[in-house]
Amino acid sequence: MEYFTSTSKPSRRAVDCVIIGIYERGKLGVAADDINSASKGEVRRLIKSGDLSSELGQSAVLTKLAGVKAHRIVVVGLGKSSAFGARQFRKAVAAAATVITKTRAKQVLNGLMLETVAKTSRYYLARHTAEAFGEILYRFNKMKSGRQPAASPLKKIGYAIAKQADAADITRGAKHGDAIAAGVSLAKDLGNLPANVCTPSYLARTAKKLATGNAKLTTKVLNEAEMKRLGMRSLLSVSAGTEEAPKLIVMQYKGGGSNKPVVLVGKGVTFDAGGISLKPGPGMDEMKFDMCGAAGVIGVMATVVQLKLPINLVVVVPTVENMPSGTATRPGDIVKSMSGQTIEVLNTDAEGRLILCDALTYSRRFKPAAVVDVATLTGACVIALGAHRSAVMSNDDALRAELVAAGERSEDLAWPMPLGEEYAEQLKSNFADMANIGGRHGGAVTAACFLEKFADGLTWAHMDIAGTAWNSGTKKGATGRPVPLLAEMLLARCRALP
Ligand code: BES
Ligand code: MN
Ligand code: ZN
Repeated sequence: MEYFTSTSKPSRRAVDCVIIGIYERGKLGVAADDINSASKGEVRRLIKSGDLSSELGQSAVLTKLAGVKAHRIVVVGLGKSSAFGARQFRKAVAAAATVITKTRAKQVLNGLMLETVAKTSRYYLARHTAEAFGEILYRFNKMKSGRQPAASPLKKIGYAIAKQADAADITRGAKHGDAIAAGVSLAKDLGNLPANVCTPSYLARTAKKLATGNAKLTTKVLNEAEMKRLGMRSLLSVSAGTEEAPKLIVMQYKGGGSNKPVVLVGKGVTFDAGGISLKPGPGMDEMKFDMCGAAGVIGVMATVVQLKLPINLVVVVPTVENMPSGTATRPGDIVKSMSGQTIEVLNTDAEGRLILCDALTYSRRFKPAAVVDVATLTGACVIALGAHRSAVMSNDDALRAELVAAGERSEDLAWPMPLGEEYAEQLKSNFADMANIGGRHGGAVTAACFLEKFADGLTWAHMDIAGTAWNSGTKKGATGRPVPLLAEMLLARCRALP
C-alpha cells in the first residue's frame, strides 16, 4: 500500500473516493461540512431525507456529487460527538473500508483525519487508518480451490490534513500502521492454516524465510537431539506422542547495538489434542489455533524487520504437536525441565506451560532486559476476560503496566491479573517439585504461577491470549492479536531511547 497526505480541501481533490463522517443530531464532521458546502447542501438534504445514518459504523456511498471532484463519497456514521475516541474512529474507518474495498476505487482520501479525536494524536489516527484497511483487506483463500473473488484494486490511502506541519507525524503513523498490518496478516495466516500444513517444521521454515536477505536477523532452529542435549525434557514430553518433529525456533534481530534485548516467547502448539488427557470432540478443530502465541511473536518480528527498529529483539518459539499415542506422556509421569526442576504431569492437556518453561530457561542466555511469553494458555482466561482483553501477569510492576498501557494505545486491549504464593501453592505435588496443574480455581493465574517458577531473576511477563487470539462461530479465524500491543510496546521503547 502507498500513503500520501493532502492539504487541499477534500471537495477539491480528484481521488476515486473520500471518506467523510456525520455525528448524531445532524452535526457534520469537518470534511462532511466541506463536501456539503461544495455540493450546495447535498449532505444535509440526504440527512434530512433519512438516507444517511449517523449511527457509529453505518455507511452510505454517494457518487458524482455536483461541485465535488472526487468520484465517490463514503459517508460514515460517527455516533455521539462527545464519545468519539480512538476506538470509534477505528470502527468508522473500518466501516468505510468495508464498502470501499467492494468498489473499484484505487485511491481513497480519509477525511476523518480532520476530526478532533479524544486523547488521540494524528500519529495514532494515521496508524489506526492503515491498520483498519489492512484488517478489512485481509483474505484467507489459500486453501480454497476454484476461482477467487476479485481482490480490491486499492493502492493508495490518503490522509486529509489541516496543515503541512502535521504531515511528518501522519506519514510516520502510516508507515508504522502498514508494518503492524503486515505483522497481523502474517500472524493470521499462520493461525488460520490447518495443523496438517502449519506444523512445527512449517513454522521453522517461515521463520527462516523472514531472515533471508536480512543482515540484522538470524534464525536458527534446534531439533529434537539438540533439545535433548540441553535437557529440555519438559518440552519433549509434550511431543512424545506425535510423529511431527518438535522444534525450538530462535530469531535474533540486532538493530540496537549493545543494548540488552527484549525476548518474546510464543507458544507454538500446532495442534492440541490434549494428549492422553484427550480433549472432548466438539470444537477440537479450534486447537489448530494453539500456536497463535508463536504466530504473534513471529508477526511482531516481521513488523520490527519492516520498520528496521533500532532495538535488539529475540523471538523464541517452542513448537510441538500434542497428540495421544502409545509413546505419549502419561498422566503421573515425572519429567525434569532444563532448569533442573522436576514436574509431575498430572494432565497432559496442560502442555503449553511444559514447553514454555524450557523456552524461558533457554531465554536466559540472552541476558534480556525483559522476557514476555505469549500463549493461548488456559480456558480459564477465556472465562475471566472473554474475547476482549488478553491477561497480563508479571513479576515486575513496571513491565505489567507497560504492556497494559501499550494495549490501550494500540486498541489491542489487555488487563492485569495477579500472581501470588497462595495461588502457587495449588501446584504442590507429592512426588515432584511441582505439578503441572493447580485445580479449577484461578486456572489462568496458577498457570502463570507455574511459569513464574522458571523466571526467577528475570524481568518477566506472561500474556494469556486464549480469548483474544481467534474468533469462534461464523467469524472463525485468527485475529492477529497481540501483534499491535507488542509492536506498540517496542515502538514506545524506541521513543524512549536517548
Ligand atoms: N490450549 C489450551 C487452552 C485453551 C482452551 C485455549 C480453550 C483456548 C480455548 C491449553 O493447552 C489447555 O488445554 N489448557 C487446559 C489446562 C487445564 C488442563 C489445567 C484448560 O484450560 O482446560
Ligand atoms: Mn492443552
Ligand atoms: Zn494448549
